[in-house]
Amino acid sequence: MSPLPRMASRVIAWACLAIAPAWADDRPSTPQRLHPAYVAECASCHLAYPPTMLPAASWHRILKGLDQHYGVDASLDEATVRQLSAWLSANAGTGRRAAVAPPDDRITRSNWFVREHRDIPSAVWALPSVKSAAHCPACHRGAEQGRFDDNDLVRPPGLTPAQGRAWSD
Ligand code: HEC
Ligand code: HEC
Repeated sequence: MSPLPRMASRVIAWACLAIAPAWADDRPSTPQRLHPAYVAECASCHLAYPPTMLPAASWHRILKGLDQHYGVDASLDEATVRQLSAWLSANAGTGRRAAVAPPDDRITRSNWFVREHRDIPSAVWALPSVKSAAHCPACHRGAEQGRFDDNDLVRPPGLTPAQGRAWSD
């Protein structure tokens, strides 16, 4: 690589760092270009979760176990798995937040996730309009674009005022 593009990419990295959300730790991550195969194969049943939200080890286990993927069969051919594996490794979370793989390799069981959502009563996750913590867009309007900041929240239908405290501070 010649010095010029290297410097340019460093400048871009710095610019992204400045707007990186809390969960991103020390890594620039949003807005992020998603690999077309990732969108095609991993966003039909749920959000194309930002790759930075899990460590590489978790992504690898997920790709190895697609035939038994959280209760469904999400198998893919080997070539696609290799492609996704390379891309997810290169873009996985790093730093303190990604040091430990969360239970079940679930974003929703990561320490940072539990901490950020600690003021949400458990009944909220079970609302018909939410169904699961894994359904980020139920509350994060910008989730498809990788935006999860506090000023981009929506209240899912059925939320009572008492349950909605986390939305208003
Ligand atoms: C056939 C449907 C389907 C496909 C295709 C699929 N998934 Fe999933 N995925 C699920 C279901 C169902 C869950 C569990 C959701 C829940 O608990 O509410 C899940 C959960 C997950 C979770 C954990 C979410 C959490 O709780 O933090 C990750 C990460 C994930 N999938 C990644 C992937 C990746 C990567 C791909 C592409 C290789 C993929 N998924 C393709 C159905 C699918
Ligand atoms: C039931 C609604 C709901 C769902 C579903 C949900 N969140 Fe949240 N999330 C919130 C609320 C409300 C906050 C703000 C909490 C607070 O400030 O006390 C929040 C905060 C966050 C934050 C911190 C934002 C910041 O700038 O401080 C991140 C990151 C985040 N959520 C990611 C996710 C991801 C990723 C998913 C899906 C895997 C998800 N959330 C699912 C409601 C939800």
